[in-house]
Amino acid sequence: MQDFHFDRARALLAHAEEIVDAQAVQAAVRRVADTLNERFGNPDDTAFPLVLGVMGGAVVFTGQLLPQLRFPLEFDYIHVTRYGDDDHGGEVVWKVIPRPNVAGRTVIVVDDILDEGQTLAEVKRRLLDMGAAEVIIVVFADKALKRPKPVQADIVGLTIPNKFVVGFGMDVYGYWRNLPGLWVIRQEDLKAA
Ligand code: IMP
Ligand code: MG
Repeated sequence: MQDFHFDRARALLAHAEEIVDAQAVQAAVRRVADTLNERFGNPDDTAFPLVLGVMGGAVVFTGQLLPQLRFPLEFDYIHVTRYGDDDHGGEVVWKVIPRPNVAGRTVIVVDDILDEGQTLAEVKRRLLDMGAAEVIIVVFADKALKRPKPVQADIVGLTIPNKFVVGFGMDVYGYWRNLPGLWVIRQEDLKAA
């Protein structure tokens, strides 16, 4: 069992290509923090936003973003996933729903990647249904797709090509969330795994 996962994780990364290195990742996090600090960091701004990290993919981005924010905030998390853990998303499933304290708040949703947008469209809809005053969507990566998405991100760290990536919180079959840069996994390796 352990050997299986070790070998499969290694095989998936063996021919992967690094498209964003750790330094560029850090620069993107800084840009996102600067944008949020400009928006919420004025001394006369009394907003007290609720930052919601979307588990599990946003764990690394959120962890690095929060210490760079210079305004009072509250942190909480939600957990949403799309069925199955392969490279094609299915139905959106809630594992941890937002708490009632979202009502009336400015909510900053932080996620790893906006792909087809089903996940964040559902998150935004639910938060507004629960009475959030405003929902600001922050994603580390926005995948460039040819078709329109059901939701847009308000703040984007990086726009990336329409390829399957791992690293900085993003995984393939649960592997490689820990990589500090972004790596594209070869399509044929995804199929073979
Ligand atoms: P969406 O609903 O299609 O926007 O999918 C968003 C979710 O799918 C993200 O939060 C990720 O968990 C996952 N996802 C989408 N694209 C990738 C990728 O390239 N690598 C890893 N996870 C991805
Ligand atoms: Mg996710």
